[in-house]
Amino acid sequence: MLNLDLSGKRALVAGVADDAGYGFAIAKALAEAGATVSVGTWPPALNIFLNLLERGKLDEGRRLPDGSLLTFEKIYPLDAAFSTLEDAPQPLRESKRYNAVGDFSIDGLAKRLVEDFGERPLDILVHSLANGPEVKKPLLETSRGGYLEAVSVSAYSLVAMMSRLGPLMRPEGSVVSLSYMASERVVPGYGGGMSSAKAALESDTRVLAFEAGRRFGVRVNAISAGPLASRAASAIGIIERMVQYVSRNAPLSQPLSAREVGTAAAFLCSPLASGITGTLLYVDKGYHAMGMAVADTGV
Ligand SMILES: NC(=O)c1ccc[n+]([C@@H]2O[C@H](COP(=O)([O-])OP(=O)(O)OC[C@H]3O[C@@H](n4cnc5c(N)ncnc54)[C@H](O)[C@@H]3O)[C@@H](O)[C@H]2O)c1
Repeated sequence: MLNLDLSGKRALVAGVADDAGYGFAIAKALAEAGATVSVGTWPPALNIFLNLLERGKLDEGRRLPDGSLLTFEKIYPLDAAFSTLEDAPQPLRESKRYNAVGDFSIDGLAKRLVEDFGERPLDILVHSLANGPEVKKPLLETSRGGYLEAVSVSAYSLVAMMSRLGPLMRPEGSVVSLSYMASERVVPGYGGGMSSAKAALESDTRVLAFEAGRRFGVRVNAISAGPLASRAASAIGIIERMVQYVSRNAPLSQPLSAREVGTAAAFLCSPLASGITGTLLYVDKGYHAMGMAVADTGV
């Protein structure tokens, strides 16, 4: 029987701070397939996340099909806006949510992984994080700072992670990031340079697939996921309407679940996908294939 088996593999999922988003669902699917999973959590969200876990508030979400609870091998502080600790401004480093967590940069994450697990500890890297401080603003009203922040956190972070964590990955490793169709079609309301960041992320996926494939022997793919009412997406302000719109107009009208993205990511990270790299996989109930809103056709 064909088997999606990730036992013996170690994964790091960057961008998990609750049980509502794609990162959590991917972590869960990877664990279900047998992988050992660590997560990287944004320092401002870290204490709340640890608290929720400790108080059992995420137990329902953590429940795996065999009845056991998803556990994380390590939970690392990670602010993907910074390649090294020195890149972070001093006031931020000294602020309440950052001053006690140690080196929260991408370089700090790499050093901790090596300290904890040795020189080549990783098989799977998932980039499931984004931030666009001006996401509610139309592109025409987006400041240079807001635009660059969106691209820095949501796209360059993948480049920085690949360059620092790529050498830590074992041969036949796999990297997956999360994109959104606003990279290639206009989605009104998805502003602040986030559409530009996703376009960069998708282009970088192809180039990184080539460079990291040749250099580290790893695969790099992206999933273009349909809308989901996660915590990050609630910042857009119209996410519920986006979810409903896709349900009304996609070929498959059941709402997309985070688990469907989780299992697709687990496949891409598995040896079953050993021939797939540099691709964008749509996991959106087929919405990307539509050229006209069903609601307006009367069909
Ligand atoms: N929710 C959607 O509708 C949707 C659709 C397509 C793609 N995506 C993408 O999926 C990925 C995961 O998002 P989600 O919607 O599941 O929400 P989420 O809230 O589960 O994940 C986003 C995570 O990014 C973290 N983050 C923000 N800034 C960070 C930084 N500087 N350093 C480290 N972490 C940081 C947040 O703390 C959060 O944990 C993102 O790339 C998002 O753009 C989401």
